[in-house]
Amino acid sequence: MSFNLGSAPSQKGKIAIVTGANIGLGYETTIGLAKKGAKVIMACRNLTKAEKAKGEILKKVSGADLECMVLDLNSLQSVRAFAKAYAAKYDKLDLLIENAGIMIPPFSKTADGFESQIGVNYLSHFLLTNLLFPLLKKTPDSRIVTLSSKAHEGGKIDFENLNAEKSYSKIGAYSQSKLACLMFAYELQRRLEKSGSKTIAVSAHPGVSNTNLGQHIPAFFKILMSPVFALMTHSPENAALPTLMAALDPDVKGGSYFGPTGFRGMKGKPGKVESTSLSHNEEIARKLWAVSEELTGEKFNI
Ligand SMILES: NC(=O)c1ccc[n+]([C@@H]2O[C@H](COP(=O)([O-])OP(=O)(O)OC[C@H]3O[C@@H](n4cnc5c(N)ncnc54)[C@H](OP(=O)(O)O)[C@@H]3O)[C@@H](O)[C@H]2O)c1
Repeated sequence: MSFNLGSAPSQKGKIAIVTGANIGLGYETTIGLAKKGAKVIMACRNLTKAEKAKGEILKKVSGADLECMVLDLNSLQSVRAFAKAYAAKYDKLDLLIENAGIMIPPFSKTADGFESQIGVNYLSHFLLTNLLFPLLKKTPDSRIVTLSSKAHEGGKIDFENLNAEKSYSKIGAYSQSKLACLMFAYELQRRLEKSGSKTIAVSAHPGVSNTNLGQHIPAFFKILMSPVFALMTHSPENAALPTLMAALDPDVKGGSYFGPTGFRGMKGKPGKVESTSLSHNEEIARKLWAVSEELTGEKFNI
């Protein structure tokens, strides 16, 4: 299975939401979708930054159909407000790309008291999917794409410390959140299949790309590692291709995982990739789903 954006099907008439669309991989994903003719809702926490990015994209993709809407994943109330505003305006949703994320910040809590990485990266996206599901369900061939990471390989879902109640490891919390995003896609797909739904859930990871995600990596480490980083990383434009493949390739099957297929999965052409056996554990996925419903205060019925 190979992917080329140029030969991917036209997305004219389709509507996509990309979270965290103003910079990095979300920005590049928005460009890719706009090039294919989709209308893209740039769901961002800062409207000024989003409008600036929209202006830049319009210069690159003439006629791009873009709209900025406020979504702050640091707050479930903002997620609810976004979903309500979207549903008031649109009666369908073809692609939901859950891209926004943060990595290894100092310990902080979201507005709802969640550890920030599990809250922003996973729980808010879980609620967002839930609230937008009625629209996804009635849109033929709709897709949900969650963003995971190679970091999921070192992660575990620690139900006793999901919100860093006992201790906070920056890397542990990031890995856990990215494993949760992946397990959510797999579990969602199992539930969609069981219900006979045509909507599919997939996941993608970008490999390694030098974006603002690395803002909390210590400066000395960045300097020390810079020659190695240069060999390991690829451009944000290329790093967005696994997400675009997951979203656009007509041969994609629900429950698949995409990433770069080059050196140790860190860079290279996008393709179907494997994830850890833990990520496929159905018992943990079911428990995570139930805990996520409880924490977000909303039952997720498929
Ligand atoms: N870059 C990599 O090497 C890499 C590797 C593996 C996985 N990933 C995953 O890829 C995704 C995109 O990462 P990136 O590299 O593009 O990072 P990035 O350049 O830092 O962009 C992250 C995006 O998420 C947004 N965001 C952060 N907190 C938010 C919040 N509370 N509410 C709404 N939006 C929020 C940011 O908005 P602001 O501009 O307002 O901060 C920005 O638009 C993430 O899920 C990340 O985990 C990246």
